[in-house]
Amino acid sequence: MLKVTFYGHSCVFVTDGRYKIIIDPFLTNNPLAPVKAADIDVDYILATHGHGDHLGDAIEISRRTNATIIAPNELANWVSQRGALAHNMHIGGGYDFEFGRVKLTIAHHGSSAGETGLEYTGNPCGFVVTVGGKTIYHAGDTGLFLDMKLIGELNKIDLMFAPIGDNFTMGVDDAVKAVEFVKPGVVVPIHYNTWEIIKADPEAFKKKLDGKGVKVKILKPGESLEL
Ligand code: NI
Ligand code: MN
Repeated sequence: MLKVTFYGHSCVFVTDGRYKIIIDPFLTNNPLAPVKAADIDVDYILATHGHGDHLGDAIEISRRTNATIIAPNELANWVSQRGALAHNMHIGGGYDFEFGRVKLTIAHHGSSAGETGLEYTGNPCGFVVTVGGKTIYHAGDTGLFLDMKLIGELNKIDLMFAPIGDNFTMGVDDAVKAVEFVKPGVVVPIHYNTWEIIKADPEAFKKKLDGKGVKVKILKPGESLEL
């Protein structure tokens, strides 16, 4: 059994009852976050890229809880230099952790961090995470790409997190195409309505996927689903 809770924007908390994992822990300054960074207690933190709305509170949480940050190599080095524990990976590589397997996918986007937001932190990624007998694909921040078909072919994706907010990532129509490529059992839209610039209608996304064999689950921040 796997419990997955949406914390707003792209932040997702996953637990199989034994291990606790958070993806893209942007909580401080996230207007939609239902929890505070100081209340997060996890074993692992997965960071798709260095942008503040994804790396978020990762370093602070790692320092406080000793959680390991799993991230692309350059970002993993960047957080290590700032006192966090890190496990360096890179795109196309997978690794068997104690909780399950993590594989990094491509994501068409940028990645930088730091005070000015201009320190280069390598390539951004998405994650295919197998835990509790289920496989989750968190696309991170990305535009649509044809290789999503491969992700769907190589993995039976039980749950996909797909950005729909447009401007910085896929919008609704491209996200619908992405879901058709990946063919997940369930898809949860993310990365929308945090700010005006990424305003999107999750109901329109749901409607466009009607009858396509995929369950669309719109989660409000703080809501969970069980797989
Ligand atoms: Ni980004
Ligand atoms: Mn973002």
